Amino acid sequence: MDINLIQEKIENELAGVISPQALEEVRVKYLGRKGLIAELTGSIPMLPIDKRGGFGKEVNALKIKVLNLIEEKERSLKNQDSAAKKNNIDIGMPGIAQRPGSLHPITHIIDEICTIFNRMGFSVLEGPEVETEYNNFTGLNIPLDHPSRDAFDTFYLKKYAKSLLRSHTSPVQVRAMKTAKPPLAIIVPGRVYRPDAVDASHLFMFHQIEGILVDRNIKFSDLKGTLEMFTKNVFGKDIKMRFRPHFFPFTEPSAEVDISCIICCGKGCSVCGRKGWLEILGAGMIHPNVFKHVGYDAKKYTGFAFGMGIERIAMLKYGINDIRLFFENDLRFLKQF
Ligand code: PHE
Repeated sequence: MDINLIQEKIENELAGVISPQALEEVRVKYLGRKGLIAELTGSIPMLPIDKRGGFGKEVNALKIKVLNLIEEKERSLKNQDSAAKKNNIDIGMPGIAQRPGSLHPITHIIDEICTIFNRMGFSVLEGPEVETEYNNFTGLNIPLDHPSRDAFDTFYLKKYAKSLLRSHTSPVQVRAMKTAKPPLAIIVPGRVYRPDAVDASHLFMFHQIEGILVDRNIKFSDLKGTLEMFTKNVFGKDIKMRFRPHFFPFTEPSAEVDISCIICCGKGCSVCGRKGWLEILGAGMIHPNVFKHVGYDAKKYTGFAFGMGIERIAMLKYGINDIRLFFENDLRFLKQF
């Protein structure tokens, strides 16, 4: 038997020892009364006479070496133990595993949409959730007594006169245009609030993304091209898009934009209400009255604006059938994104 190999094996074994119990096991295994070294010693009389002396010395040297190694290990374990005790750490205790977090699906979609528009040259801008009546309505060509205000049912804040929780992200149009001159290309993600009764498709708080582009010579076709790029990036390049005439006080002409149903591809199913189309956003050319409010020259500049509900986009993209799931904070739901 090769004594050197045995010594190597013992050294390796000792390197893996982290507790006094394991060290004692190693000690018994090699130095115990029935241990390997005792066995080696016992085998000496069986050897030819001329080999006995040399082998006996080797075994003896090994025994002393192992004794030293074990002593050394004992000392180092003690040192570790007292260091750990000083810090109140039980190094033998299993660690507490941390479950890695993940982004909320709404954050995912916001990031994705902002990235798409970033690539087209839009910058991201945010605005406050508590707004003035002026920015939310008047500046957007929605006069106080205009019936269209009913369409934007709003939470008013009692404490502060004429302030409210914004009912759409469009007031940030007013803020942006008041502070910067054209050309202007911005995208605005954020929370909005409406006093709606909660059901599978309504909440009193949800998210929108607003986009505006203002420069000389911006045309309706620019709006179409931009939105086409957007819808194909989010829903795939086979998606079709259509514009339906609509009314918004702050855009003229205005449109609602539909995409071909991502479930039935336009054939008609229960998700699209047999229409083959899904409404995804409102858009139009910025009304000259809005330009007037922010001090832009409507003869020099034109622009488009659009706004979309993010939860709706996320529900369509991921096949989620109840908007409330987004805010129940059920990890089984959130973990999937
Ligand atoms: N603010 C509108 C809404 O909340 C959406 C919109 C934005 C429409 C910009 C046209 C232009 O319904």
